[in-house]
Amino acid sequence: MKWLKNTFFLFSALILFSCGDPGEKTSEKTPVNTNVNFAEHVAPIVFKNCTPCHRPGEAGPFTLLSYYDAKKNANKIKFVTQVRYMPPWPADKSYTHFAKERGLSGEEIALIKDWVEQGCKPGDTSKLSPPEFFTGSFFGKPDMVIPFHEAVPIKGNGTDHFYMVKAPYEMKSDTFVRFYEFVPHKRKLVHHVNGHLIGFEDGKKKNAYAGKSYWQDDPKLSNDVYKEMGLANDDGTFPPMLANTVYYLPGYSAQVFPDGIGGYFMKKKGAILLKNLHYGPSAIDTKDSSVINVFFGPPPKRPVQELQLGTFGIAPIVPKFDIPANKVSTFSSRWTVPQDISILSVNPHMHLIGKTFLAYALTPNGDTIRLIRINKWDFKWQYYYTYKHPVKIPAGSTMVAIGIYDNTDKNPNNPFHPPRDIKERNDMFSMGTTEEMFQFIFTYFPYQPGDESLDLEN
Ligand code: HEC
Repeated sequence: MKWLKNTFFLFSALILFSCGDPGEKTSEKTPVNTNVNFAEHVAPIVFKNCTPCHRPGEAGPFTLLSYYDAKKNANKIKFVTQVRYMPPWPADKSYTHFAKERGLSGEEIALIKDWVEQGCKPGDTSKLSPPEFFTGSFFGKPDMVIPFHEAVPIKGNGTDHFYMVKAPYEMKSDTFVRFYEFVPHKRKLVHHVNGHLIGFEDGKKKNAYAGKSYWQDDPKLSNDVYKEMGLANDDGTFPPMLANTVYYLPGYSAQVFPDGIGGYFMKKKGAILLKNLHYGPSAIDTKDSSVINVFFGPPPKRPVQELQLGTFGIAPIVPKFDIPANKVSTFSSRWTVPQDISILSVNPHMHLIGKTFLAYALTPNGDTIRLIRINKWDFKWQYYYTYKHPVKIPAGSTMVAIGIYDNTDKNPNNPFHPPRDIKERNDMFSMGTTEEMFQFIFTYFPYQPGDESLDLEN
């Protein structure tokens, strides 16, 4: 938000003009399209690239469903498309391409600009209808929705809150799940979720709903806590728990792989345990009732695994992850790949003072395999970037992730002015927004010949 606010401040003069104000000048020299109107030229761009998020229930702060929505926000739309802030896509497209990349072409950006400058003409909007979306999901109607058992109370005391939350369920029979989608209720407060899948074996649990629904702020989680939350079988033993099945960060939408790739086996009685549900500070007392959408699918032929370098990961951060005040610091994490693998998706993770992120692999014969580059880190957009085709990393390669952090006063996203030393911490509180993390998360499976041509996009 801060970056945008600052940029808006600089360009605030631009925002004051309304559609077609002749006083308005832009620096971009693009050919002017004549007679641009909404229905014919602008609506197709907006409906495809903006409306999926700018509609009721989704993350965008206003709706873009009609001519009037667009007209009302015309100058803002022109501005955010010109500076390529919207649609959000932080990964550098000149470095690597991914499936379902967001972004407008130069031509589309020019059309929007010309439409605004020519007075936001409606055209024939009578035949125009926004695409149909299912409210409550990015992907359409889910096969099942698992709500929180109880709403989670959030105190309006201006501090971060960490919860473990249980979302229990019961179904008629066991099934396979293609993916889970976490849908935040208090979108502005939900910061991060990492959910695990618990499945009670047949006959071992009478009531999946028994026990406490949530647990607050205890980094020393123990089996006693799990028991109080009703996560043990009735005989006191613990059911299997599958890590990292539900995931959410601001700007994130669930990872969906083609049929047969990835997915989960789901017992008919169980729970999603959101182990680190992190809410940012709230000014008022409130409650969160987020839900988890479930999309069933076929049994997975190729199970997908996940690993991470850096914080909580399989490879350390070098040097020690302390970020001194008033300095720009560089950190890296390196890991030697033990077997041929195919990488499906990557997810760089830093917090507010992250500046740039780079990841690649160096093969034993000296080739570089590009993975991702983010030139302007933005905390708000933390996707799992899925490749169009799996990327093969041969055994013996070194995977390298490099993160640069700007802990100076010049960084508008720095939460502290004057800047403070930020120290490495390896407990759950490292996830506090104003602490820092450095993670390079990736999903993969063992390489099989032909993986390079698997289509992960369609
Ligand atoms: C992936 C979801 C997503 C897509 C796609 C998307 N937006 Fe947004 N947009 C958001 C979110 C979330 C915010 C609020 C965060 C922020 O202000 O930085 C936002 C903010 C904005 C703002 C600034 C609002 C304000 O007053 O601060 C404008 C203008 C905007 N979007 C226009 C667009 C346009 C135009 C498109 C398509 C070309 C688009 N967005 C595509 C999610 C999206």
